[in-house]
Amino acid sequence: MIRRFKWTDLDTIMEIEKEAFPKSPYSRFTFSYYASAYRNNFLVYVVENKPVAYIIFYSDGHIISIAVKKAYRRRGIGTGLVDEVLKRTGGYAMVEVRASNEVAKKFYRHLGFSLYTIIPNYYGDEDALVMTRMPVPD
Ligand SMILES: CC(C)(COP(=O)(O)OP(=O)(O)OC[C@H]1O[C@@H](n2cnc3c(N)ncnc32)[C@H](O)[C@@H]1OP(=O)(O)O)[C@@H](O)C(=O)NCCC(=O)NCCS
Repeated sequence: MIRRFKWTDLDTIMEIEKEAFPKSPYSRFTFSYYASAYRNNFLVYVVENKPVAYIIFYSDGHIISIAVKKAYRRRGIGTGLVDEVLKRTGGYAMVEVRASNEVAKKFYRHLGFSLYTIIPNYYGDEDALVMTRMPVPD
């Protein structure tokens, strides 16, 4: 089940984040900011009342972050969360991906994203690939 983030999810989201991005996890402050300023655009995927994944995005389809708890990966949960963004934008989305994040690149290609441009040193230590997905005509 996908629903909006609730404040009681915060500790679990922090655990998912640290597991997914051990070198550069978002802080509690960052999640709190998005939960306050973008409350409709911070979604969680819940199993037995506990979040196992989240996505944060802007209303124009810019994906800020997505992570799925390791034990729940390759079950279509990430796809389900990106689909929620696509539903709201009519099929458009964009995302920055670390150049070395092979899994994320495969994931987004699978969802119909392709390389738009590269931003050198976007992460300080690494380039970003900007990947976009265009609406698919009927
Ligand atoms: C990227 C991530 C969100 C994908 O979530 P997920 O729920 O496992 O993705 P899905 O099950 O919806 O996968 C959809 C497709 O993406 C591709 N894919 C996903 N994970 C993959 C992997 N480890 N290796 C190869 N392809 C992969 C496959 O084509 C997959 O379809 P399939 O399982 O039928 O082969 C998850 O791996 C994650 O949290 N990674 C760490 C955080 C991260 O890198 N976030 C992205 C930052 S921009």
